[in-house]
Order: sequence, then structure tokens, then C-alpha cells
Amino acid sequence: MSKIAILELDGQRYELPVVVGTENERAVDISDLRAKTGYITLDDGYGNTGSCSSAVTFIDGEQGILRYRGIPIEELAEKSTFIETAYLLIYGHLPTHGELRRFSDLLTQNENIHEDMKHHFEGFPPNAHPMAILSAMINASSCFYPGLMGAANKSRFDIHAARLISQVRTIAAFAYRKSRGLPVIYPKPVYKYTANFLHMMFSDVYQEYELKPEVVRALDLIFLLHADHEQNCSTSTVRMVASSQANLFASAAAGVCALWGPLHGGANQAVIEMLQSIHNSGDDGSRFITQAKDKNSGKRLMGFGHRVYKNYDPRAKIIKKACDAILNLLNISDPLLDIAKKLEETALRDPYFIERKLYPNVDFYSGIIMRAIGIPIEMFTVIFAIGRMPGWIANFKEILDDPKSRIYRPRQIYVGPTLNSYIPIDQRSATR
Ligand code: CMC
Repeated sequence: MSKIAILELDGQRYELPVVVGTENERAVDISDLRAKTGYITLDDGYGNTGSCSSAVTFIDGEQGILRYRGIPIEELAEKSTFIETAYLLIYGHLPTHGELRRFSDLLTQNENIHEDMKHHFEGFPPNAHPMAILSAMINASSCFYPGLMGAANKSRFDIHAARLISQVRTIAAFAYRKSRGLPVIYPKPVYKYTANFLHMMFSDVYQEYELKPEVVRALDLIFLLHADHEQNCSTSTVRMVASSQANLFASAAAGVCALWGPLHGGANQAVIEMLQSIHNSGDDGSRFITQAKDKNSGKRLMGFGHRVYKNYDPRAKIIKKACDAILNLLNISDPLLDIAKKLEETALRDPYFIERKLYPNVDFYSGIIMRAIGIPIEMFTVIFAIGRMPGWIANFKEILDDPKSRIYRPRQIYVGPTLNSYIPIDQRSATR
């Protein structure tokens, strides 16, 4: 028998349906609440709001579980690749040999940006943040594909999705080269996705970058671990924009902007900046932990805490292990890793962090791997964006494929002035 929730308001009793997900997650369906009662719900920051039903990713934050299309992240990290996982997220199943080959071919055929787009890079100042360039260029590229608009979106979805996944990597590498005053390096069709990105970033006209399989694998793992994370700030933004029937590139460009902030994807850059400043100040982390607990200090332990995880972020566990492995392999000793470990150890024993269930998140160790493989700090959040693209596309597709999809349009509780009159300018007093 299906469950219902009972709500009593103004002496009236209302029945609200209860929705149960495949992992037994429960929600009270309030979609008719206002029509029936005149009330809306209020949930600042959406901490208790399910904005949609989705079949892409499952998270159990209490237990530290993350699964893409039902498959545990640990299994994918060990056995899959970023591109295979991208296919899984977008199309809902692991690809056969043929499907994977076709998907890879589509990526390769669409890896070059329109040649005219190269001029757009000239318009940015040399110190422009690559996230600004990335968002602007993803949006600009939709101008080069008129077929992206409207209904054509659906019939040509496969090609647009492949184009976006492939070109975001080309745009990111070009943005980096431009910021360093270096000539752009074109992708090579013989290279696979992640190897090609490293080639475009680090090869020179006169000398090819030496691709080390361990480095390629480490970056591929980072992409894979970032590939989706259900209704986070940027994915919700992508869905919000997509719900107005804006095109895939416009929706993804908005996602990049949402991801940029230091409380979201920008945390990976903020973590390294924090570790570096701790290191420069001669602190071993203890002084910083005291500051991070003090609300007046304006400091937080970056890379710690999560809206959903009240346990160790499973991605952080995988990244921490990979971090030790790659640093050993490359024979690098990074003092920032020692500080990070000390911070983690101290925080996990400290009542402040224990009571608030604050654990390391995906961003805590990822920057140390990226540093080790030569990715410059300003590109860290861009790497996150490249990785998150399949998740955004999968969420966009859910909206596209849903015949009942409606524009996202939350309501509010107005707390401003009540009815007021217009005062002519010469009668206004300077009270503010
Ligand atoms: N350092 C110190 N205190 C913290 C931290 C932190 N990193 N995170 C949360 N708190 C405290 C916060 O001050 C509050 O304390 P109190 O209850 O005394 O007021 C309590 O913990 C709850 O925090 P909140 O800000 O209400 O939690 P939230 O769910 O709104 O925010 C978060 C989640 C991830 C934005 C936050 O934990 C944070 O700012 N972390 C640092 C930034 C970071 O690492 N972001 C990456 C998130 S994972 C990847 C991604 O999503 O992109």
C-alpha cells in the first residue's frame, strides 16, 4: 500500500503522497501543496528539497556511498576509464565494444573547435581565469552549431554531447596555452581522451610531451571521480537552465560558472592555496585548525565538509590512495601532502569537526595529485569541469527526454516593504 503523509494546517487535514526511490529514499510530494492549502515550503539553501527524480547517481551521505547508475565508485575507479564511465552516465548502461568504439570515434571526429573560434581567445587578457574563458568559450561555440537550438537538440543529441565532452578539453588546453603566451597544440586523433589533453597542454611545437602511463591514468581517475555527483550546485544550475529549453552548450556554460566558486569546484584551488600559505607561515597545520574553528577568522578548512556526506567522502579515500601512489612513482616529496595529512589527522580527532561530521571531501587531496603531474593551480577547477561534463550532460538528457518536464521556477517568501508610494526626488530625505 502506498504511504501518505498527513499535514494539519489551520484546522484542516491534508494528505500528501510519499514518494519512495529505488534505494528507499523517501520524500513527501508537495507539488499540490499550494493549490490545496495556499502554503509553500521554505528551505533556504535547498538542504531538504528534492528538485527532481533522477536515475543517474545515488549517494548515501551517512554511509559514504556513491554509485553511478548503480555501480559503486570504487569499482569504476578500479576497472573503468573516464570515457567508458561518461558513456555509462549519459546512456544509462556500460557500453559494448561497438558502442564504446562509436562513442570514441564521435569524440575524435569532434575534437577540433571551429577554426574561427581561435580568434576569441585573443580577446582575453593574459591573466584571465581559465574558468571565465571556459564558460565564455563553451557558450560561444553554440553559435557555431545552429543545429543545437530547439527541437533539433533531441535528434542530434549524441553528436552534441560528444562535441561538448571532446571540445571542452580542447578549449581548456587552448585557454591554458593562451594564458602562457604559447602556441596552441592541436589534438592528435591517435591519442585517447586524457592523453590527448596532456598532449595539448604540455607538448611543444618542437618537442612532444612524454606521456607516462601512470600520469595519464592518474588524471583519467580524477576525471572519472568528478564525473557526476547528483544535484549539487552546478548540476542543479545546468538543469535549471536546461528546463527553460536552452541548448546543451548554454546549460553547460552556466554549470561552469556555478562550479567556479570556492565552496564548490573552486575548493580544489583553495585547498592548495591554503596548504601553501600554512607552509609559508611555518605552521604545521595546528594553528590553522584553531582559526578554521573560529567563525570570526573568516577561514574554513577547505576540502573539508559536505552538504550530503556526513562520513568520509568515498572519492577522497580513492584520491588519497592514488595521491600516495603517484607521488611515490614520480619520486616526489611534497611538503603540502604532509601538511594535508596532519590537518586531516588533527581534524578527525577534534570535537568541532566530529560533532559537525566534517570529513575530507574530493577536493582535499586532488590538488596534490594535479600539482605532481604538472597541472598549474589555476587549471584545477577547469579539470573538475572537464570531469563533470558527462554528469551535466546526463542530467540535461533527463530533462530533454522527460515529456512532463516543466520550467524550474521556485517561489519565495517576500520579506520586503509592504505597499509603498513613489516619492519625487526633490522630496526625498537622505536617510541612507
Ligand atoms: N571548516 C570549518 N567549519 C566548517 C567547514 C569547514 N570546511 N564546513 C562546515 N563547517 C561548519 C560550519 O561553520 C557550520 O558550523 P555551525 O553549525 O557551528 O554554524 C557547520 O559546519 C555546518 O556548515 P554549513 O556551512 O552549514 O554546511 P553546508 O552544508 O552549507 O556547506 C560546504 C557545505 C561544503 C559548503 C562546507 O562544508 C564548506 O564550506 N567546506 C569547505 C569548502 C569545500 O571544501 N567545498 C567543496 C565541497 S565538495 C566538492 C563540491 O561539491 O564541489
